[in-house]
Amino acid sequence: MSYQERYREYLDLIEPALREKFGTERGYEFDGLLDAMNYSLMAGGKRIRPVLALEFARLNGMEPEKALPVACAVEMLHTYSLIHDDLPCMDDDDLRRGKPTNHKVFGESTAVLAGDALQAEAFGTILRSGLPVEARAECAEILAGAAGVDGICGGQFMDLSAEGHALTAEELSALQGRKTGALLAAACMLGAAAAGADGKAVELAGQYGAQLGAAFQIRDDVLDVLSTESELGKPIGSDKRDGKTTFMSLYGESECTRMVERITAAACETVRDVDTDGFLTELAASLAVRRS
Ligand code: IPE
Ligand code: IPE
Ligand code: MG
Ligand code: MG
Ligand code: MG
Repeated sequence: MSYQERYREYLDLIEPALREKFGTERGYEFDGLLDAMNYSLMAGGKRIRPVLALEFARLNGMEPEKALPVACAVEMLHTYSLIHDDLPCMDDDDLRRGKPTNHKVFGESTAVLAGDALQAEAFGTILRSGLPVEARAECAEILAGAAGVDGICGGQFMDLSAEGHALTAEELSALQGRKTGALLAAACMLGAAAAGADGKAVELAGQYGAQLGAAFQIRDDVLDVLSTESELGKPIGSDKRDGKTTFMSLYGESECTRMVERITAAACETVRDVDTDGFLTELAASLAVRRS
């Protein structure tokens, strides 16, 4: 099966599973909250994190479909982080996934709650799944690590605190490792852990995901300068407007491209022995040159 076919197959599992979460049942006093959650969840992201979860489950001997609870959970947590990232008190952006941001459509208080609820439901999805109880506990711990102080929240705090003053490359790497790398690492680890893989295999998955994440955020910083709003589905120029140090502001395009290539090669090397039909290698290579 080609890389594209497998990615498509994964999307065909992920999209209906996500739609089922908050897209169907209505008739409650909190319908407006479900609408806001569903709006951002189904707005059309690339679904890289759930795809990674399914692939690492498969590589560790599990039928991908059985890992859907952890795949949905990581995408729900990611979507929460995007809704909050776009709020006026954070990056203050109006466009996400090609659509007006959640707070533009539903208002700030509902956007905050939609993010909160997506985060809680992400953990609920893992804990209520049919996975063995040990796997559920391990997966919840992995996701908690990526969401909290050592992950998104810590990284986003560092990102916002640094607005308007310069960071060193080391400080920026530490920040980006938390705000972006941690969840991509968790996506890979969740798939492996759901499949009952041993500690070494879970760690290897996390190492690949962290490397992928480092390259991914540098590419994101490049696209914030060089892409277009219509291609990217989110505004460009936000980082400069918000006074952020990025790898783009520190080094410029050609050095960033070299860094992305170098880190991508390292990620591919990490999984050389386990990536039996090359899916992880192709995924990393395609993300290194992505346009959106
Ligand atoms: C955007 O992530 C936020 C970053 C970590 C840079 P993605 O580029 O994966 O966003 P979607 O899910 O495709 O919208
Ligand atoms: C955000 O980084 C990473 C998150 C934790 C959401 P950015 O602020 O650069 O992401 P975009 O460019 O708005 O997607
Ligand atoms: Mg941000
Ligand atoms: Mg942002
Ligand atoms: Mg960005």
